[in-house]
Formats: sequence, structure tokens, C-alpha cells
Amino acid sequence: MTDTDATLSDALGRISTAPDVDTLRSIEREFVGKDGVVASMLAAIPTLPPADRKGAGQSANQLKQAVLTALAEREVALGNAALDAERKGDGFDASLPPPRLERGTLHPVVQVTRELEDLFTSMGYMVLDGPEVELDEYNFEKLNIPADHPARDTQDTFYCNAPGSKATLLLRTHTSPVQVRAMEHLQPPFRAVVPGKVFRQETTDASHEHTFHQMEGIVIDRNVSVGHLIGAMKTLLRGIFKKDIEVRLRPGYFPFVEPGFELDARCPFCEKGCSVCKQSTWIELLPCGLVHPNVLKAGGLDPEEWGGFAFGLGLSRLVMLRYGIDDVRHLLGGDLRFLEQF
Ligand code: DAH
Repeated sequence: MTDTDATLSDALGRISTAPDVDTLRSIEREFVGKDGVVASMLAAIPTLPPADRKGAGQSANQLKQAVLTALAEREVALGNAALDAERKGDGFDASLPPPRLERGTLHPVVQVTRELEDLFTSMGYMVLDGPEVELDEYNFEKLNIPADHPARDTQDTFYCNAPGSKATLLLRTHTSPVQVRAMEHLQPPFRAVVPGKVFRQETTDASHEHTFHQMEGIVIDRNVSVGHLIGAMKTLLRGIFKKDIEVRLRPGYFPFVEPGFELDARCPFCEKGCSVCKQSTWIELLPCGLVHPNVLKAGGLDPEEWGGFAFGLGLSRLVMLRYGIDDVRHLLGGDLRFLEQF
């Protein structure tokens, strides 16, 4: 074995067992570095007999190439090994099934809202939105509920005035303010529904929640009668319960409609009485009425020319009826065990 062969096998042996990249770097310096073995072999060439010089140069270069190739291969192998080790440490196992993906579902209130929006848009209604932080003026005044009106007591209100502001701000207690906003912005005749959140300062229990959902309906046209109102409510109930529902009207007082009604629906869940209708076969579902002339005026419309009807569908209540939910607090409680059922 020549000296060069011995050097080469020494280098390759050490490279193949080098434990890390730092060791490879120092082997690299030792053999092919500026002052390394190859460099001194090349430096010695001029001292050799001329006949040996060419061969010496060739063996130095072969040594250099072989060492560089072995270094590069070992470095790749070390990198792969490190990666494997890291994955094992993570518990990575390519043969395991992937973790279960959590799938979300639409909230039941959203599902029912969308269904009703589809129903109403198919009947020519627009879907409108209004501010949740509302002016007293729209929540009460323009709906024919002046400051000292007893109807205010039935809607315990969260006031949220900014210090120093002149207008009274509150969290809307119903979606009715959008009736007036719609009249102000739209050219009659029009029909609109307004789904949304409303707020009341109430002690919460199974049937009271400080935040719940309503869907307001408003139709403005010429010559609107109670007959139109009843017809529209029956169509609505058929759309919701997928069958014809008998209705009855009882007088109901709401300052923004005249006449005002409580519309009861024949219980869709039973024939002889059940827990939903409290054994009466009727459920109180839809307060409604013909829009009061003062409200039309507040919306900038002439009550001699225009009339209309309005209704306030309790969305939260409807969702509870539909799915047999017995506590309104489930709706906004955020408990996944509840929500995952929908
Ligand atoms: N805004 C009323 C409430 O929240 C419900 C209501 C009653 C709305 C009669 C209406 C209506 O549009 O005509 O108590």
C-alpha cells in the first residue's frame, strides 16, 4: 500500500464513523484544508525527481476528490438520521391514522334564520340589518313610545350612554326600530324582514335571557288590511312547520301598531294538548298588527297614502319550539355538548 492509499483509507474510515458534522469539518480541514495533507503533498512536488512529479500530483488530486465525496455523503446521512430521531421523539408515526378533525356546525339560531330568510326572499321580502346599539329615538320615540310611556317598563333597557353625549344610546330591546329606519331609506311599497339580536336587562332563567333573537317583518303598501296580515302569517307558519296551521287573533297592545294582535297558532306538535302548548293546543307565537299612523309619519310616510303591517317573530322561541329546547340559556351558553347536536 502506498502512503497515499494509507492516508485515503485512514480518512475514509474516520469519515464513515464521524458522529457529527463538526467532526466532518475538522476532518475536512485536516485533509483538504489550506494547510492540510493534500496541500502539503502538492507543496512537496517541486522537491521530487521530475519523473515522479506528475504521478504525485494525480494522487494528491484523487485523494482530495475521494475525501470530499465521502464527506458530502456522510453529511447527508447524518442529516437524515437526525431527522428520523427527531420524528421518533415527537411520536411521529406515518402509519397511524390522522387525528380526528373537529367539524363545526351552524348554530341552530343561524340555521332557522337562514331558512326563514330563504322563505321570505322567495315571497319578495328584503333582508335588512340595523344597529344593535340604537338611539332611544328609534327604539322608542319613533315607535310611538314617548319617554313617560308605561310600555317602556316592559322592556327593561340597557342604557349605554357615552358621558357627555346628547342622544340617548341603548342596546335595542327589539328589532322594531328597523321598521322606521326602513321607511326612511326605502321607497314604498316594500317588504322586509330583519333578523337580529336584541337585549333586555332581565334576571335570567329558563325562559328569560338578556340577549336573544327576533325577526321583525314590515310590509308597506297602499290599502293594506288585516286580511293581508293574516294571509302573510299563515304563509309564514306553513313555511316554518311545513303544513297548514290554524291561527287565531287576540287583541294585543303594542304602541306601534293599531290594531295590534297576539297571533296564536294551533300547536303543530299535538292534537289534544302537550307540554309545548301547555295542554291548550294553542301557542302564542306572533305579535303583529297594522303599522300605527304615528310610526308611518315618523318614517316620513303619509298615513293617508301608505299603510302596512308588521310582526315580531321570536326567533329564539321558535328555535326552542322546533328543537324541543327547554332552556333559552342553552342558545348562547356556548356549551359544545349542546351545540354539537345540531
Ligand atoms: N317589538 C315587540 C317586542 O319585542 C314585538 C312586536 C309586536 C313587533 C308587534 C311587531 C308588532 O312588529 O307588530 O315585544
